[in-house]
Amino acid sequence: MESAPEAKRPLELKYIQYEHSLETQYLPAIRALISKDLSEPYSIYVYRYFLYQWGHLCFMALDPVDSSLIGVIICKLEMHASHSPATMRGYIAMLAVSAASRGHGVATALVKMGIDAMAQRNADEIVLETEETNIPAMRLYERLGFLRSKKLHRYYLNGNSAYRLVLLLKSPDVDDATDFALDEDDSAKR
Ligand SMILES: CC(C)(COP(=O)(O)OP(=O)(O)OC[C@H]1O[C@@H](n2cnc3c(N)ncnc32)[C@H](O)[C@@H]1OP(=O)(O)O)[C@@H](O)C(=O)NCCC(=O)NCCS
Repeated sequence: MESAPEAKRPLELKYIQYEHSLETQYLPAIRALISKDLSEPYSIYVYRYFLYQWGHLCFMALDPVDSSLIGVIICKLEMHASHSPATMRGYIAMLAVSAASRGHGVATALVKMGIDAMAQRNADEIVLETEETNIPAMRLYERLGFLRSKKLHRYYLNGNSAYRLVLLLKSPDVDDATDFALDEDDSAKR
């Protein structure tokens, strides 16, 4: 008797770093995957802003058979000068996994790749915002060590609030820790 086909495990996916030569092949699929679950769709310029400058901080999970896009993470890394001393701040801008492939560790693998890439480039911390009602995302990030740093009231255009989450990669000194604790709700800066 033929055995039932094995369910696809995350390790069977192909994980690759984005590069500019892949734009024509993957940018439409990246936009489609991310905009599906977004409360506020981004224009193509937003994607290019991230991918032109930090394509090396974008990773994709691909179906090994037809190379279709299953998941993607888009990040950036910049010097953040408003704190003293200035910190290298990584930022997870976008993360999505196709609905059919969720719950198998794909996003966990992508976030770990993003964290590793930013840590290798000397990030002090990694931040992101997520809707307070997005339980799968909150669980995923908190499982990986992210902490809630502040609540951003009515952060999104749909009126939903967000949490800013932070992963500290280097132990802050006493002054930095004070800055962090006193950081005000800055949703108005957005
Ligand atoms: C949030 C989102 C990215 C999570 O993607 P995902 O691939 O399902 O996430 P993971 O599989 O890594 O983690 C989800 C669950 O699978 C479990 N899991 C199953 N197999 C796993 C494995 N091999 N390794 C790690 N986790 C595994 C995890 O434990 C986790 O369970 P829990 O958090 O309920 O305890 C996805 O739901 C999504 O695309 N949502 C829409 C877009 C979105 O909200 N993006 C985030 C914006 S900040």
